[in-house]
Amino acid sequence: MSKKPVKKEEVETTGHSWDGIEEYNNPLPRWWLWTLYACIVWAVGYTIAYPAWPMINSATAGVLGYSTRGEVAADIAAVEKSNETINAKLASVELGEIAADPELEIYAKSAGGAVFRTWCAQCHGSGAAGVQASGYPNLLDDDWLWGGSVEAIHATISHGIRTETDDDTRYSEMPAFGEMLEKEEISQVTNFVMSLSGTAQDASMVEAGAVVFEDNCSSCHMEDGAGDREQGAPNLTDAIWLYGGSYDKLVETITYSRYGVMPAWTERLSEAELRAVATYVHGLGGGEASE
Ligand code: HEC
Ligand code: HEC
Repeated sequence: MSKKPVKKEEVETTGHSWDGIEEYNNPLPRWWLWTLYACIVWAVGYTIAYPAWPMINSATAGVLGYSTRGEVAADIAAVEKSNETINAKLASVELGEIAADPELEIYAKSAGGAVFRTWCAQCHGSGAAGVQASGYPNLLDDDWLWGGSVEAIHATISHGIRTETDDDTRYSEMPAFGEMLEKEEISQVTNFVMSLSGTAQDASMVEAGAVVFEDNCSSCHMEDGAGDREQGAPNLTDAIWLYGGSYDKLVETITYSRYGVMPAWTERLSEAELRAVATYVHGLGGGEASE
């Protein structure tokens, strides 16, 4: 208690009193007051110079014309400018030649990876492994529905699959066999399909299923079940399933059919970006040589 108590007589009170407790009317400390004034002046200056007051659609722009969005746009423009030459080259060489130019290939793969993480990962997974039994294919393996050369991948990405708004889209449709085959026949053909990868549930049905398959399925999936890339008909012999390989999942696929849709990207991505992401996907492990 070294502090000297302020005596009541020296300072006036505010006149307020609560249960007999009165309040001194001490002046505010100078330093505090000046800080407050400085803050007010600074705030006024700030709202004049920088975007500040919210209006209906945006904020007041501020006389300096500064915005963080503008800063980002300038950064992006600078990067695009510095990549202009290589993007032009990427968009103009033959697709099959990208891999022959190491500088171009490295650029395409890293730019393509960025495109992939932005536009493709939602469906194909950030590591491109697809999503099990959901119809979103794994792009890491060499099991291609529509072809695994860089040209085929580029065409798939550019025009999509079963995308109604793109005239060049890849298109095919498996009929819903629930309307054409008896339940028994569906059981049989399901067992036959499972037997192709050695997992038939009921071996006694396989032989009859082979007949159903020959009559109804081989036009698309081929007689040996190895599929047809012209029609995007999957290989049924490799135990890689787009929609699941259990008996129940296969019955569902065959009864109702599937209609996997992949968006077309020509409208949203530049030619250089399309080629970059095609090179990236091609380089993930399953890429095949150009035809
Ligand atoms: C809305 C979901 C969705 C998005 C986004 C998407 N895809 Fe797809 N993709 C699919 C589906 C579904 C299929 C399978 C279509 C089928 O059943 O034939 C597919 C198929 C593919 C195939 C063909 C695979 C094969 O085996 O032939 C490639 C290549 C591909 N996608 C690449 C991409 C790339 C690159 C992007 C980003 C630019 C992308 N996809 C974005 C849904 C998507
Ligand atoms: C007109 C061509 C066509 C015919 C006929 C056809 N399919 Fe398909 N099938 C397809 C296509 C295309 C897909 C891929 C659908 C998709 O990706 O959405 C497919 C997918 C499948 C799948 C899913 C494979 C997976 O990886 O999940 C199975 C199983 C299948 N077909 C079995 C059959 C059986 C059994 C028959 C005969 C009863 C049959 N298909 C007849 C074109 C056909």
